Amino acid sequence: MTTKIFRITDISKASSEIEEAARIIKRGGTVAIPTETVYGLGANGLDENAVRKVFEAKGRPQDNPLILHVADDDWIERYCEDVPKEAYELTKRFWPGPLTIILKRRSLVPDITTAGLPTVGMRCPDHPITNALIRAADVPIAAPSANISGRPSPTSFAHVLKDMDGKIDAIIDGGDCAVGLESTIIDLTVKPPRLLRPGGVTLEQLRDVLGEVKVDETINSLMGNDEKPKAPGMKYRHYAPKAPVTVVCGSPEKSAQYIQKQDLGNKGVLCFDEFAHMFDEKRTLSFGSSTDLKAQAERLFDALRAFDDMDVSEVFAQCPVEEGLGIAIANRLKKAAGFRIVDLGRD
Ligand code: TXA
Ligand code: MG
Repeated sequence: MTTKIFRITDISKASSEIEEAARIIKRGGTVAIPTETVYGLGANGLDENAVRKVFEAKGRPQDNPLILHVADDDWIERYCEDVPKEAYELTKRFWPGPLTIILKRRSLVPDITTAGLPTVGMRCPDHPITNALIRAADVPIAAPSANISGRPSPTSFAHVLKDMDGKIDAIIDGGDCAVGLESTIIDLTVKPPRLLRPGGVTLEQLRDVLGEVKVDETINSLMGNDEKPKAPGMKYRHYAPKAPVTVVCGSPEKSAQYIQKQDLGNKGVLCFDEFAHMFDEKRTLSFGSSTDLKAQAERLFDALRAFDDMDVSEVFAQCPVEEGLGIAIANRLKKAAGFRIVDLGRD
């Protein structure tokens, strides 16, 4: 199939492109969409056949449910029931934005979308193009990240094109993603609420609104194959470049020194900007200063993908401080490493 490309730089002049993309969604097609977190692979979340195409294009296991993207929190009751008041406390503060809320689903949401779960993830992305598209299509858009399953999520149009060209109906090029990591996922169907995936809305911010929040164990460890995680997607190795990754945790100085002492040969290094001079520039990528978590989040997946085009047999990566947004960055790095971690301690 030929994948149609919509390039949108000025939304005020893009109404015909958005209408056309909305028609593709309404008639059951697949459109990759820009969001503030990562690009999504969108389809009408109420249309079984359309959702099936999303699973096929990604090569995604059927037991991994999709998130429904909506235009605002008025749409929640259309697809969810028994919605607790905490859901609206969260949406008031963080929507549109990088927060997915797990709620009890209504039966009009098909099984394929939620992988048979009685719950569904709801998110309102903070991106004008995608918000206009959802309103124009007037359906909730089911959208996993627009990467081939197992690859790092796409944070630029080039990443989406590489993974999806020829497999889906259209891609909307809306520029680079501002956050660069997938949304935070909070489950409100359990008490206390449980953080299933860290992201741009931090644990501290969630606790500020909700009080007690439990952190799911899968965030810090590898799941056994026969265990049943709450967010099924968390059991798969993810975000992974082709070369195996080792994450080195500790103060930035210590982790840089540790990596420098390894027999690096043709191994790659992912480090903070200020340590790049310590390593062979041909096999080293930096992803922001050690103190700039925002830059690290934005650049991480691009760097992980870039190692695939370099001749490296293995990658050593410096781990950010695990506070605030650093929890999410460290989580994605550790997942890319299949939880191969060297922990040097912080002091
Ligand atoms: O930022 C994002 O959330 C991006 C953009 C496109 O919006 N989407 C995204 O989707 O990351 P995906 O499918 O790559 O990741 C969704 C995660 C998976 O780990 C899935 O298992 C989990 O959300 N999930 C979805 N529905 C769930 C549910 N009802 N209960 C628990 N986990 C759920
Ligand atoms: Mg994904």
